[in-house]
Amino acid sequence: MPFPADLADALAALLARRPGLTLAVRWYPEVASTMDEVSRAAEEGAPRGLVVGAEAQSAGRGRWGRAWISPSGAGLYFSYLARPARGFDLLTLAAGVAVRAGIAEATGLHADLKWPNDLLVGGRKVAGLLAEAARLGTPDASVTIGVGVNVRLAAYPSDVAMGATSLEAALGHGVDRGAVLAAVLEHLADTLVSLEAGGAEAMLQAWRAASPSAVGTPVEWSDPSGSRHGITAGVDESGALLVRTSAGTERIVAGELVWHLRA
Ligand code: BTN
Repeated sequence: MPFPADLADALAALLARRPGLTLAVRWYPEVASTMDEVSRAAEEGAPRGLVVGAEAQSAGRGRWGRAWISPSGAGLYFSYLARPARGFDLLTLAAGVAVRAGIAEATGLHADLKWPNDLLVGGRKVAGLLAEAARLGTPDASVTIGVGVNVRLAAYPSDVAMGATSLEAALGHGVDRGAVLAAVLEHLADTLVSLEAGGAEAMLQAWRAASPSAVGTPVEWSDPSGSRHGITAGVDESGALLVRTSAGTERIVAGELVWHLRA
């Protein structure tokens, strides 16, 4: 499909300005999930930098098996193929830093990161990332990084609407989707290259600076020993969330947390 009119010029300008950027972008009117499109291409040997986006998704998914409601034209829905030599956890944090930086560059809006990689404005979600890995530890390793950005609010189900915001709602004016997409893709490609080139410490610093909730926020979760709670105490050098509990400091590498964010 030809790119939607509001994306075409910005993408063309990006590729003209940065011809060395490894990006191959495909865009569809609707797919089930861009995650499936990129994962399939990864299995078929596609190189890093493949991006598949869609105007709408009929089965968009989020973390923990949740649906990602993806109405036509209301957001940006795309997946990016990374071929990491190492480090899945840092890669997902890096992707959050990159999406945040792209949104900030294109709109001036500085979202907060919430571990591992939600983007919040005023405590409401404006964008989410989902990373799915395959064949990690082999030369064919791939990580499909899915990015969903709420550009304008749509008729979401009420449980989603309560916790969601959009770029336009947060800014109080219209937003150029193409500018956001181009800036996010540029930051994603650059951030992942610099991570591979040894930029983990700088990336973690940027992540920590953008994530006020990573320190001092009450959280709850469940593990095999039952229901747990504690206070966040930062992220370590491998990207794990540290939580101070009555039994000591726990490292959380995965799992769903309930966050009691400050209002
Ligand atoms: C989350 O916050 O739970 C992650 C949301 C990720 C949504 C994006 S939209 C593009 C890509 N395709 C999907 O099906 N999901 C991701």
